[in-house]
Amino acid sequence: MNIGIIVYSQTGNTLSVAKKLEEKLSAAGHSATLEQVKVVGERKRGGRDFRLETLPDTGPYDALVFGSAVEAFSLSPVLTNYLKQIESLQGKKVACLVTQLFPYPWMGGNRATRQMRKLCEAKGATVCGLGIVNWMRPRREKTTAKAVDRLSRLF
Ligand SMILES: Cc1cc2nc3c(=O)[nH]c(=O)nc-3n(C[C@H](O)[C@H](O)[C@H](O)COP(=O)(O)O)c2cc1C
Repeated sequence: MNIGIIVYSQTGNTLSVAKKLEEKLSAAGHSATLEQVKVVGERKRGGRDFRLETLPDTGPYDALVFGSAVEAFSLSPVLTNYLKQIESLQGKKVACLVTQLFPYPWMGGNRATRQMRKLCEAKGATVCGLGIVNWMRPRREKTTAKAVDRLSRLF
């Protein structure tokens, strides 16, 4: 399957998980491509005043994994803005990945993935799975491995 992994990652956490997922999907025989949503210039932590510099095209992919940080118990406004702008996801299988600092999904991860799911479904996607990584140690490694494993089995 031709899978696009499209992430917004301000400090590199989500990107590092996405790289692991890219490796795992490639090792399983898929064509996996990691692309980043970027903003113009420096974005203040949690800032809502930004412009997207890159708007990765979802068109070439059969399936997509979207990834982002949790910000203020919600999906990052940058990924929200991106998902609102992209073309239709009709007929595509989609999975959602978020990373959050706090140790439990109810501390923002659940809400952020719900929001991501809704945005993707509004574009016509079939959302087939979710992954939440809790970055605070000691849960980081375990939740990373679990999310990568779970997401890699969806395709
Ligand atoms: C403005 C802001 C708000 C945040 N709010 C939350 C939150 O509500 N819950 C949480 O667990 N982590 C929160 N975090 C932590 C990030 O979700 C976490 O560090 C994430 O892994 C960063 O991913 P990135 O490096 O890919 O940008 C917040 C971080 C920032 C900058």
